[in-house]
Amino acid sequence: MEKRELKFRQDGTFKVMQLTDIHYTDDDETDHGSVRQIRKWLAAEKPDLVMVTGDAVYGTDNLKNIGKAMAPLIEAGVPWSFVFGNHDVEHHSSRKELFGILEEMPGFVGYHDPAAKDGYGNHMLPIRGREGKVRWVIAGIDSGNRNPLQAVGGYQYVSRRQIAWYENQIRDLEKESEAFSVLAFQHMAVPEIQDVWRYEKCYGVKRDGFGCPLVNSGQFLAALEDGHTKGMFFGHDHVNSFWGKLYGITLGYGRISGRGGYGAEDYPRGARLFVLKEDQLDDFETYEILDNGNYVRDPWGQEPRAIRDEG
Ligand SMILES: [Fe+2]
Repeated sequence: MEKRELKFRQDGTFKVMQLTDIHYTDDDETDHGSVRQIRKWLAAEKPDLVMVTGDAVYGTDNLKNIGKAMAPLIEAGVPWSFVFGNHDVEHHSSRKELFGILEEMPGFVGYHDPAAKDGYGNHMLPIRGREGKVRWVIAGIDSGNRNPLQAVGGYQYVSRRQIAWYENQIRDLEKESEAFSVLAFQHMAVPEIQDVWRYEKCYGVKRDGFGCPLVNSGQFLAALEDGHTKGMFFGHDHVNSFWGKLYGITLGYGRISGRGGYGAEDYPRGARLFVLKEDQLDDFETYEILDNGNYVRDPWGQEPRAIRDEG
């Protein structure tokens, strides 16, 4: 299938929708309700790209259900991509098998770069502006499942080989474009999400824990060093949707999009949107659309909870 090149609109903007944790499980009314909502958000927002940040499906019918969960994206004719969550292939099939099904679906622009060595489906999507120059790049990273280091346990970390791949991709992009920024997506947050919540002003809701790795593999530091990464957005912690800035990089959560997984009765499902501008590389706009018809454009500001103990 021919891949579509991503381009800024005539007005210089590009809109990304992040869907996360749809948890399509039993093909029942709960799941059908999730799909109906996603259809509405797509119709209301008309994004230029949709990034699905994992846990799209759950359980033993994952291969059967993935097409049903992704149906609204295919119907909308929008380019879309995907990164794995910890649950997508937890009970059945391999990452490769599920990803093979995604690759056959209309509109899918993700791919598996074997150069990343670890995980499956690590990829980068350049968005071109005037004269075909790359101005923004969407990165999709597989944040894994459980930590293979038994002495540590907990959730997996993005490996040093994946980080080296990320850095190499950026070096390659630097050869063709002197000025571009990166917005990265993955299912599980980097450990620094805890620092942004503790020490910086944050915007939005934190009603969940931090399901991030217990050890720090240096992914955030690499993002700081590369000088291009401006945002890293996650899923996984269903009842968190806040974001904040740490040393110039915005770290934040999407909005849980599906009804199949855990959540809270009074916590609306939704989607997070990002508006990138080809002439604004230092920052971006983000907001949420909710299943109750409301938008979250100016989320509640939360003052830092602690002052750094600098000794
Ligand atoms: Fe989840």
